[in-house]
Amino acid sequence: MAKLYPEFTEAELRAFSLEKGALPRHVGVIMDGNGRWAKKRILPRSAGHRAGMEALREIVRFSHSAGIEALTVYAFSTENWSRPRAEVDALFSLLEEYFYKEIDELDANGVRIRIIGDASAFSGKLHDLLDSAVRRTSGNSGLCFNIALNYGSRAEIVHAVSSLIDDGVKSADLSESIIDSRLYTAGLPELDLIIRTAGEQRLSNFLLWQAAYAEFVFTSVLFPDFTPEEYAKCLVEYAHRTRKFGKVL
Ligand code: IPE
Ligand code: IPE
Ligand code: MG
Repeated sequence: MAKLYPEFTEAELRAFSLEKGALPRHVGVIMDGNGRWAKKRILPRSAGHRAGMEALREIVRFSHSAGIEALTVYAFSTENWSRPRAEVDALFSLLEEYFYKEIDELDANGVRIRIIGDASAFSGKLHDLLDSAVRRTSGNSGLCFNIALNYGSRAEIVHAVSSLIDDGVKSADLSESIIDSRLYTAGLPELDLIIRTAGEQRLSNFLLWQAAYAEFVFTSVLFPDFTPEEYAKCLVEYAHRTRKFGKVL
């Protein structure tokens, strides 16, 4: 039997100092620090990625329970291909394991899975698992869970613009919303918050366009140690920000 995620009551949210009305609708997470987590324990980097996968499972559950509409996680960048082959292979086999193990639970909880990035790079078992996870959950109406895989924001923008050119869209008809509609994130709520773990303060080619008015929260916690409690602290920090969108308040 798949585990069903509870929906937090107002009182349960308050236990994390959170309020329903002050939550972001769409959160992006740059899951960083798996390697450092492993190094501290004199373990192979793959052990850090495994621990990161376990942390991710809890972040997805918490997002759903708190009522966040969309969660986009950065799992593998276009630049990550330059890592040692053994690490790349270990990451992909962990991803296979994640989808294989989690799909029933995610589906039972109404999670809708989307892969953002150039999925054409994947073949074989991983391709089939990704494809079936996306197809199986496409009609769900719960949390939109987007996994950025072989993702690079600049490549995403190039892809969007070239699809418009291929469709014969004239420069006079170009607009922000038409570009939005061709990005991998089309149809999702505006990105409200980007969290990056492990102390780095950069985007590393993640959601450049979408981040135009997002808030940033950086935490020094390494991703495998990023528990729902740490996540909730980032959400509380977001709730205390004043978003101005260029206006005088
Ligand atoms: C993030 O952890 C996971 C991926 C990029 C896939 P890292 O592997 O980048 O961990 P650090 O930055 O080396 O600690
Ligand atoms: C960004 O982390 C990519 C992912 C989290 C998947 P990196 O660890 O690859 O980024 P840099 O190299 O520190 O900028
Ligand atoms: Mg890193």
